[in-house]
Amino acid sequence: MSAFPPLRHLLLRPRLPLSLQPFAPLLRPSTAVPIRRRRLRLLSSSSSSTATQDSADEVAEPPPLATGKETSVVDVNPPRGTRDFPPEDMRLRNWLFQNFREVSRLLSFEEVDFPVLESEALFIRKAGEEITQQLYNFEDKGGRRVVLRPEITPSLARLVIKQGKSVSLPLKWFTIGQCWRYERMTRGRRREHYQWNMDIIGVSKVRAEAELIHAIVLLFERLGVTSLDVGIRVSSRKVLQAVLQMYSIPEHLFMEVCVIVDKLGKLSREEVEKELMQAGVLLEAVKGIVEVLSLKSLSKLEEVLGSDSEAVADLKRLFSLAEHYGYSEWITFDASVVRGLAYYTGIVFEAFDRAGKLRAICGGGRYDRLLSTFGSDDIPACGFGFGDAVIVEFLKEKGLVPDIARQVEDIVFPLDVELEGPASKVVSSLRRKGRSVDLIEDKRLKWVFKHAERINASRLVLVGNSEWQRGMVRVKNLSTREEYEIKIDELC
Ligand code: HAM
Repeated sequence: MSAFPPLRHLLLRPRLPLSLQPFAPLLRPSTAVPIRRRRLRLLSSSSSSTATQDSADEVAEPPPLATGKETSVVDVNPPRGTRDFPPEDMRLRNWLFQNFREVSRLLSFEEVDFPVLESEALFIRKAGEEITQQLYNFEDKGGRRVVLRPEITPSLARLVIKQGKSVSLPLKWFTIGQCWRYERMTRGRRREHYQWNMDIIGVSKVRAEAELIHAIVLLFERLGVTSLDVGIRVSSRKVLQAVLQMYSIPEHLFMEVCVIVDKLGKLSREEVEKELMQAGVLLEAVKGIVEVLSLKSLSKLEEVLGSDSEAVADLKRLFSLAEHYGYSEWITFDASVVRGLAYYTGIVFEAFDRAGKLRAICGGGRYDRLLSTFGSDDIPACGFGFGDAVIVEFLKEKGLVPDIARQVEDIVFPLDVELEGPASKVVSSLRRKGRSVDLIEDKRLKWVFKHAERINASRLVLVGNSEWQRGMVRVKNLSTREEYEIKIDELC
């Protein structure tokens, strides 16, 4: 019979012979520096998590300065529009990013990365886009104008140019990175967000757009989202281009017109018409533009633009490919999709919440001329950006946020303070074998069991005196409730 008492007896033991002072054994009296603690006045007013508030309740401070001030006031909220990620939010974010990465892998894209801090010149564009008015820009200590990037596409274009002829096209790149926009906050829109980008460089055929939309659909399917809840609106900048040509509107107005027209829905039709006229578009053309943008069927578009229209041919090709890929039910033609970024030149698309409660979930398009605006030759390119914030709001709305538990496999618990050394040996051996192990000390066994349940651990390894002397430890499998002794060397 084991000299080790069954676990249920231990659970009933009133107290283990351990000091309950957290980490007390680690502080030797001669070296322990007294930490002065003071209470912070909390200004937290928002939804920041309880964990954050609790941990901020008492904070160790550095040695006091001789200011004579006894209190300080710290706002424990992060700057407006930005987020902390306590562990549960971080687990959700990692889960989402793993899905981004997995879909990128399925489409054989390679991961790239860029600095969040970029040169301001990369984002100076003249078409009056919102994004260029929302820059977090400043001068660094060396007098250089820099920005916290509001999007990733210009950085990607910069790297493509930098790599020059050393890379063979096409490139299929993805990245996940933080972007900053001084934006008016609405649900899911904030001042910082993470964006998953997928871009294809060097393919002029609509196949590239079809691939990108396939990636978006695969992602939605993995998240449990169906085409009943989300749709992808598709159009082409070539539609507007054709209309401008019809009315002989000069080419140089194209980008500005696109940016103004994108405001339909946010501004009234009259305001948009006024802005178009201020940009130099004649009234007749303004009416023509607004009319074409209301089209929702490809056959109607063909009637207006003619059967030899490039816009119509591209869109027809995309819809035909969508059928082969098997995602037709996700996409619809909608001429009002123009997108607010100046550099798009061809097909543009946006995923939207069919219930209409949230802003665009993701968006992208073809930008065949962006590279030449940076002084390179034109290279065909297209891609999309998919933010982390709107999709999480959407998943919450639909009850699709998964319950992601902490991932710890084993808990090792020494039953006596003298067993600290043996317990360290056990955790070290398990971790070397690839197990994720939490070492718990100075707690009651009851607490350890609760903790194991809370963090979803699969095993509890108890290091007890008599077992240890026989080269054994006691293991409880927490899912089967099975209990056994095992040799330390055989524990894996
Ligand atoms: P965008 O439409 O400006 O495109 O942003 C793409 C996505 O990023 C949006 O659909 C949304 O999910 C997310 N997003 C943007 N701004 C915010 C914000 N303030 N708060 C939360 N989420 C936001 C671009 O950025 C293009 N550069 C995408 C692209 C890549 N086009 C070609 N390649």
